[in-house]
Amino acid sequence: MNRRDFLTTAAALAANAQAAPNARIQVGVIGCGARAHELMEAIMQNPGTEIVGVVDAYKGRVERAIDRTKQRAKAYASHHDLLADRSIDAVVVATPDHWHKPIILDALAAGKDVYSEKPMTYKASDGREIIRAAQAGGRIVQVGSQGISSQSQRTAKEMIRAGKLGRVTMIRAAYNRNTASGAWIYPIPPDASPKTVNWDMFLGPAPKVPFSLERFFRWRCFEDYSGGIATDLFVHLCTTIHFLMDATMPARVVAMGELYRWKEQREVPDTLNAVLEYPQGFTVNLSCTFNNQSAGEGAFQFHGTEGTISLGFGTLAYTPENVIEDNNWIVESWPKALEDAYYRDPKVIETEVAPARNRKKAETQVFKDSKSDSTIEHFGHFFDSVRSRKPYWEDAVAGHHAAACAHLINLSVKQKKMTEWDFELDDIRA
Ligand SMILES: NC(=O)c1ccc[n+]([C@@H]2O[C@H](COP(=O)([O-])OP(=O)(O)OC[C@H]3O[C@@H](n4cnc5c(N)ncnc54)[C@H](O)[C@@H]3O)[C@@H](O)[C@H]2O)c1
Repeated sequence: MNRRDFLTTAAALAANAQAAPNARIQVGVIGCGARAHELMEAIMQNPGTEIVGVVDAYKGRVERAIDRTKQRAKAYASHHDLLADRSIDAVVVATPDHWHKPIILDALAAGKDVYSEKPMTYKASDGREIIRAAQAGGRIVQVGSQGISSQSQRTAKEMIRAGKLGRVTMIRAAYNRNTASGAWIYPIPPDASPKTVNWDMFLGPAPKVPFSLERFFRWRCFEDYSGGIATDLFVHLCTTIHFLMDATMPARVVAMGELYRWKEQREVPDTLNAVLEYPQGFTVNLSCTFNNQSAGEGAFQFHGTEGTISLGFGTLAYTPENVIEDNNWIVESWPKALEDAYYRDPKVIETEVAPARNRKKAETQVFKDSKSDSTIEHFGHFFDSVRSRKPYWEDAVAGHHAAACAHLINLSVKQKKMTEWDFELDDIRA
């Protein structure tokens, strides 16, 4: 058997192991925390699917997950046990970030399709490992930055493709918050203790440190488990920007991060600014503060020579550019006769005088999503892929790149210098 025959047979075997096109897709949920409970609600809105298995490192969340599935899901002691269940076709990985790669790789090795929460990776080199494993086994990997499945973001992509913005050279995007919860200081359930929390299961590949409920429930604040604002929030912004702009990666990144306010039990910045320069010819400014939210949470502006798109959560506003050449303040400093001659020039009449006379107010067009929950739509795409074996846009490659932007940003902050992407290696330039 040559290599090609072998791959064809392997792909056929892999496809056979998958759910038949119209069969119900049996789902296992690995990590049943706050996000997973939202994900379970979204899965249950997708017909032809059932959550049959759950696993978590805190007892209370297992209990609630089983309740949420009306006692239909079974609890497993570890993700290994859940993955060994051959009746499970697909898994959702919604653990803290340091666990994503090992669990995704174990799931792919067990022949499961994977919906992984963002960021797909904890460090940039994880990405290629996951891509290779998914390709080798012919598995579907979809990453959970659900915004791109919203109607507003899909409409924005079509508008940019149709040239409504002209040439886009500047994109601004931000997340801003001003609450303890927004800064990830979450309440800790009163029954949490070494009896109800499996500390070793949580730590997994992370450094061994003493039991800490703060680390367990507020893991985003600690570098052993999270890359903070960049991997938690900017990864969503980068996913959307890559999707709308048909972009893969920035060539160069500079960033600065500071911890100004939420200093107790926290290692990661609460204020982060980053500039990303893309080889297609546009620059992105990303910013986030946890110390003021007047600018609103999760907003983008795509600035083009012909117009601007502002995106919020579920809204899109398009404003055409309405600019006219105006050199009045320059020529009125010239000798009077030259100024008068300037305004008699037919070219100036065409480009400045007539447009100013006929100027209309630029009307902003606003679109609102009629479907409110993009996570339901995002799962719809995942389950379509599980059935059709055709990956959706936000596959392992897209997940790798969005997360890698966050890793470039964090490295720039740490090293206090510009970081670069090596397009050939598909990794951070050493
Ligand atoms: N797409 C989005 O909008 C969105 C929103 C929130 C969170 N997230 C992502 O979802 C993931 C989970 O975040 P969260 O807010 O739900 O955190 P969380 O702390 O509420 O949940 C994580 C859960 O994983 C469990 N866990 C830890 N190690 C485990 C292991 N080895 N096996 C099984 N379970 C384990 C923990 O007990 C915990 O209940 C993160 O990757 C986060 O970035 C995505």
